[in-house]
Amino acid sequence: MSDTARKFGLLPMLGHTKGKRSAVTCALKCDNACASAVCNTSSNSYFRDIASASVSRRAALGFGAAGALAIAFGGSVASAEPALADGGPGLAAAAKDGFGKSKLTFTAIAPVDAAVDAFTVPEGFGWQPIIRWGDPLFNDAPDFDLFGQSAAAQARQFGYNNDYTDILPLEGAKDRRAVLFTNHEYTNESIMFPAALPASEARAISRAAHGLTVVELERKNKNAPWSYVKDARLNRRYLSDTAYELTGPVAGSPLVRTVADPVGRTIRGTLGNCSGGTTPWGTILSGEENFNGYFVSAGTSDQDKRYGLTSKPTARQWELDDPRFDTRNPGYENEANRFGWIVEVDPLDPASTPKKRSAMGRFKHEGANVIIAKSGHVVAYMGDDERFDYLYKFVSKNTYRDGKAAADRRHNMDLLAEGDLYVAKFSGDSPAGEIDGSGTLPADGAFDGAGEWRPLVVGGKSAVAGMGVEDVLVYTRLAADKVGPTKMDRCEDVQPSLLTGKVYVACTNNTDRGRIGKEGATEVNPRNDNRDGHVVEITERGGQTSTSFDWNLLLVCGDPAVNKTAYFSGFPADRVSPISCPDNLAFDSVGNLWISTDGAPSKTGLADGLFKVTLDGAERGRVEQFLAVPRDAETCGPIIHDNERTVFVAVQHPGEDGSFDAQTSFFPDYVPAGTTPAAGQVRAPRPAVVQVFRTKG
Ligand code: FEO
Ligand code: CA
Ligand code: CA
Ligand code: CA
Repeated sequence: MSDTARKFGLLPMLGHTKGKRSAVTCALKCDNACASAVCNTSSNSYFRDIASASVSRRAALGFGAAGALAIAFGGSVASAEPALADGGPGLAAAAKDGFGKSKLTFTAIAPVDAAVDAFTVPEGFGWQPIIRWGDPLFNDAPDFDLFGQSAAAQARQFGYNNDYTDILPLEGAKDRRAVLFTNHEYTNESIMFPAALPASEARAISRAAHGLTVVELERKNKNAPWSYVKDARLNRRYLSDTAYELTGPVAGSPLVRTVADPVGRTIRGTLGNCSGGTTPWGTILSGEENFNGYFVSAGTSDQDKRYGLTSKPTARQWELDDPRFDTRNPGYENEANRFGWIVEVDPLDPASTPKKRSAMGRFKHEGANVIIAKSGHVVAYMGDDERFDYLYKFVSKNTYRDGKAAADRRHNMDLLAEGDLYVAKFSGDSPAGEIDGSGTLPADGAFDGAGEWRPLVVGGKSAVAGMGVEDVLVYTRLAADKVGPTKMDRCEDVQPSLLTGKVYVACTNNTDRGRIGKEGATEVNPRNDNRDGHVVEITERGGQTSTSFDWNLLLVCGDPAVNKTAYFSGFPADRVSPISCPDNLAFDSVGNLWISTDGAPSKTGLADGLFKVTLDGAERGRVEQFLAVPRDAETCGPIIHDNERTVFVAVQHPGEDGSFDAQTSFFPDYVPAGTTPAAGQVRAPRPAVVQVFRTKG
């Protein structure tokens, strides 16, 4: 343990990690979710499934992956052509091009050893960071100073551990201006701060390094790389005291009132933001994931237990500074109920009040990705990223307006405030005896079957016996337990293809599956001790708002050299890049799925990366690795602008296993030992948003 970690009392559970992730990441990111008892102890599906019974988020905006959506500086979407699913005009437009050959051609890189501290790209490509932890966003912000940090400076600088990221081109700038959004999931004090820093100041910096960032980008021309613009009009940091409006059925509920907010409508800050999505109306959604790790609670109620809230001191100890982080304090009993939501922000209006969307339920939200149904309803797919938790779908009450006027955008910006909420039940079509937990395909040659979306809230009313609508939305996990959904292997990104309407679910891993007392393999989660994860492909029956679907597994991940059951939709396993722990999903403009991974082993194995997966034709199931991230990092927030032959990723937690005095990564500045860093550079790891671009051809 480093001096810093010892001093700040961090990492109480180091060494208890399961699977491949670093113990430090487990402690700081997920509050050791995998070392703790499984939160879902409900018995609803502790039985085998029985046979029975951009394209992408960018395509959702109608610009494929290439960035044709233009957003006016005036704050209205000026030339969006939202792609609609279900044969609607948007889907038809996207499908006109259909699956095809991408301009972004590359030769897959060889897998990179996890111990290598390098950002690796294919032959003929280069990379550079667009923005790094500590980069100043405003004229009054100082350059980053590793040894002279302050909370005041951090509040005006780019935050830590960037996850969901998107780039929206701005209209009227000849392809030269854009706005970048990224969120900041968590902090790693051990490698961020020198031991000499006072602990209270370190905690304040840590709080300021959480939240969200919006920042404008510029480039000289279409072929030049992007850089960020200091002090641009849209630049904004969302901090721990930023006011969020709680919208929807829970707004004003006694379940969310506190002494600081007696009417239950205004929440300070957002926590544990992981993945997200971008809407056709040009707002950003971000998922509040492991919020429980920020609160001390009684930890004795069913609600506390189901959400992993405990009475132990938190890793960051913010409870020492602000009573709301200990829900045992009088007046703050409900503070943790005010986190675990999807937040929606308008990157075009730096004065806007961000929203928390209670109609979309409260759980450990990985993110939310939307598609417009043929009926005009907005459908959002959402994963609850915890072992044995569930997959959800939201259908808006009101319908999307496909207009360019400011009034249309204002209308659309309220669509996520009200709607129906469902949870997924999967059934397999193979005999239970053929799902033996090894991952061996059943006799029909596929992990596949049918499914249904079971209602939790319909028409503004609870569909769950014994629970009112406010209870269902605040304690969504407990409500879902009552309707028998399928326990999944940690749903991360859930992404609909605008080209086909099919929905892809990244199940990242679950090493507890099949352990004593835990649910064993089912056809949709077919491996016990599932270290490598899998990807589910869902086809809604009769459109995006349907309550029934068919499903199959697109990928059963792994390294085919060591895992003979790794499956790539029938594509030869000896011709794919090994892939493990799928996390974030994106599409390119011609319908290929791109997957970023979060399964880097800390000492051995392979580095995380970004992978292209062909979905159509003879090459369906072919996995090709595009890049690998530096030591201890996970790959987040992929953005595929294939028409411009460029790709963006957020590199999260590089050098996670190091300490301030013995760093293990020097990404992205890579200042050589013994040399003086150039202005703005440091000799320490910095989470950063990176652009990868062609350097030849
Ligand atoms: Fe923050 Fe689900 O990963
Ligand atoms: Ca089957
Ligand atoms: Ca994630
Ligand atoms: Ca993850």
